[in-house]
Amino acid sequence: MNVLTTRLTEKFGLKYPVFSAPMAFASGGKLAAAVTNAGGLGLIGGAYGDQQWIENEFQAAGNIGVGCGVITWAMKDKPEVVDQILDHKPKALFLSFGDPKDFIEKAHKKDVPVICQVQTFKDAKHAIHCGAEVIVAQGAEAGGHGESRSTFTLVPEVADYICGNAPETLLCAAGGIADGRGLAAALMLGADGVLIGSRFWASEEAIVHSKMLDAALVASGDETIRSSVMDIARRLNWPERYTARVLKNGFTHQWHHDLDGLLENQDEQADLWRAAWQEGNTDVANTFVGEAAGLINSIEPAAKILTSIADEAERLLGRK
Ligand SMILES: Cc1cc2nc3c(=O)[nH]c(=O)nc-3n(C[C@H](O)[C@H](O)[C@H](O)COP(=O)(O)O)c2cc1C
Repeated sequence: MNVLTTRLTEKFGLKYPVFSAPMAFASGGKLAAAVTNAGGLGLIGGAYGDQQWIENEFQAAGNIGVGCGVITWAMKDKPEVVDQILDHKPKALFLSFGDPKDFIEKAHKKDVPVICQVQTFKDAKHAIHCGAEVIVAQGAEAGGHGESRSTFTLVPEVADYICGNAPETLLCAAGGIADGRGLAAALMLGADGVLIGSRFWASEEAIVHSKMLDAALVASGDETIRSSVMDIARRLNWPERYTARVLKNGFTHQWHHDLDGLLENQDEQADLWRAAWQEGNTDVANTFVGEAAGLINSIEPAAKILTSIADEAERLLGRK
């Protein structure tokens, strides 16, 4: 049996144990379909629940089987978005950042498996007991929102719990995985596969401003920071426990240690930030990417990224 054949590939009928992350604004149907076509499972980033956008991206994916993710707390006031996604019969519903219980029940009524991304051991146990088929243990290295645990300890801690208490539950690692070394290491830590965001964000199919890609290509992991300034600038009511990893820039430099000052100037700064996002002005708008920025040196088709990660992992794991 191939070293990359795991319980995850068997459950979802994949060639490689790799999911592409449902990244807000960046993971459209084209990226998700490319990853699925190449042997992984691609996830559309349904994020805050823009129904027209989600509809368009399912169309863009065509008849290719993809999954779709949402930011769980944002669905509290719009549960109809989850119904809309489930009507597309996705390969999986992906939930992150909030209590998944009610949505897991909803998905299971429609026979859709659920992937729950968690940031703490406590939330992993809760998601397991709510019946999620797959837990994604996300470390702080990750791009976008997350918390403070590191991938290297959270994954084996959750793996041990699953082994002793819920052996049917599957586990993926996320946060800082961008090449075959990361995939091989995740499998060694006890994961059945990985969820990769930043590396697929830097792909030809992702929906990302070219100036943000340029900024990430020259950055090392040192140039990233976890912060809340962009959520204040975007007027998004993220629960306080979650921050997002982005590239440091003039905006984080000015406001990261002065959130009260930013709140006092929110109207003006929100306008500046939004205009900068449209223009790809990376001095003001933040580039959402993880510490893996330091491992990304080229923008390539998603299929090429996936096969090179898998080839390298197979080589490292000793069967090629
Ligand atoms: C640009 C970007 C946007 C993201 N948006 C979301 C999102 O909308 N929902 C979500 O659950 N996770 C989101 N994430 C986090 C990913 O699900 C995943 O945990 C992370 O990308 C894994 O770490 P990596 O970036 O080091 O691969 C995002 C990540 C990035 C890089």
